[in-house]
Amino acid sequence: MKVGIVGLGYVGLTTGLVIASKGHEVIGIDIDDKKVKMLNAGRIPFYEPGLEELLRKALDSKLFIATTNYDAIRDAEIIFISVGTPSRDDGSIDLSFIESSSTMIGKALKGSSDYHLIVVKSTVTPGTTRNIVGRIIAKVSGKKLGDELGLCMNPEFLREGSALYDTLNPDKVIIGELDEKSGEKLYEFWYEFYRDDTEYLRTTLENAELIKYAINSFLATKISYINMLANICEKIPNCDIGVIARGMGLDKRINPAFFGAGLGFGGSCFPKDLRALIAFSKQSINYDPLILEATLKINEKQALHAIEIMKRELNDLHGREITILGLSYKPNTDDIREAVSIRIINELLRLGAKIRVYDPKAMKNIKRIYGDSLIYHNSAYDALDKSEAVIIVTEWNEFRKLKPKDFLRMKKPVVIDGRRILLDKLEEFRRLGIKYYTIGHYFEL
Ligand code: UGA
Repeated sequence: MKVGIVGLGYVGLTTGLVIASKGHEVIGIDIDDKKVKMLNAGRIPFYEPGLEELLRKALDSKLFIATTNYDAIRDAEIIFISVGTPSRDDGSIDLSFIESSSTMIGKALKGSSDYHLIVVKSTVTPGTTRNIVGRIIAKVSGKKLGDELGLCMNPEFLREGSALYDTLNPDKVIIGELDEKSGEKLYEFWYEFYRDDTEYLRTTLENAELIKYAINSFLATKISYINMLANICEKIPNCDIGVIARGMGLDKRINPAFFGAGLGFGGSCFPKDLRALIAFSKQSINYDPLILEATLKINEKQALHAIEIMKRELNDLHGREITILGLSYKPNTDDIREAVSIRIINELLRLGAKIRVYDPKAMKNIKRIYGDSLIYHNSAYDALDKSEAVIIVTEWNEFRKLKPKDFLRMKKPVVIDGRRILLDKLEEFRRLGIKYYTIGHYFEL
């Protein structure tokens, strides 16, 4: 089958390459000529384990090609739309890429006598697939929705850093459908991949659109909830949020995943999707989603909590040498979008600290923002050398391997473990006279 993928970011590229790996012919469309050239040369523009290898295989077998020319998808049976839906200043989503790609798809399909199924994978607020994508493509192509043109909304749940694994092993496939014919075609397509190893839910376009937001904002709310409890734990002798989360997870009604207390969530999805659902609720249906607003507020405060802890030890941070270990918004990615590290760095710069940084993958991206304002190091050890305090911001595996004695190279070590990865070495930190603080663990001052 010939499949078109419009928008070759994380979602589009991973989906396209997985589809190609099953023997389908995939045409990837992107407006970024540089990206298209890079992909056709076998290189991925971001770091994602396993993806480059899959791209090379797909190129070798001639089952994947990237292009900027929409005419290439004229004879595609299924066309996925996976363009970005960035935040506007008021938090609502900017639909300009959805609109422009729909127009271009419509033009490409004009005059075609075949049935084409359009599938929206981008995260869009309820109503967008039907009222914007469907309408534009039908109008521009001159084809009638239903008999000549199918329409589905099929949200994506892959995580950066494990994009390939998630795409190959989804726990659910949500199919929002305009009509039976569209839904059946997409269901059959995915069934060939996943058989009975996953759950399928077929529903309306609007339900599918909202399920995506509902899942991301629920997971974000779980994180803010556990971080709120973590802040309570820090004030109660003998309390630790790890044990509280474990205890809660033992209750069969509460899933223990996404209950890791820390400095909060970042990335290109959770903050954006929360803001979009809040803006949609307020602007489009006149409803105040109070829980979602609290989730965002708690998250905004949580990053700076690391600095509050530091101030207890160092008071004035002006001129002090502070190390940040971990810059990406989570491990196994070089992505720094809405990363907690950025909020911490901005605040430390404002307070006049000298900031030394190290991350296994995200140095280039951070340098692009901060240039000479930071001191860059090639290893955690170098970044710690003679520094006065350190904040572990991202839980990269190599930081988990640090030993308490490694921190003795600091001037007078104050360790703030923002991801609780060294808590099991607390006794040794104490024995060595190192001030060690972590999120959600009672502070003995
Ligand atoms: C998230 C969702 O998990 C995916 O299902 C979804 O497809 C994606 O958004 C999207 O909408 O595109 P992602 O942003 O890649 O995926 O990363 P996650 O692994 O979900 O982590 C998000 C943030 O939450 C990270 O900053 C992470 O450090 C933080 N987090 C996660 C915690 O602070 N505690 C936890 O227990 C788990």
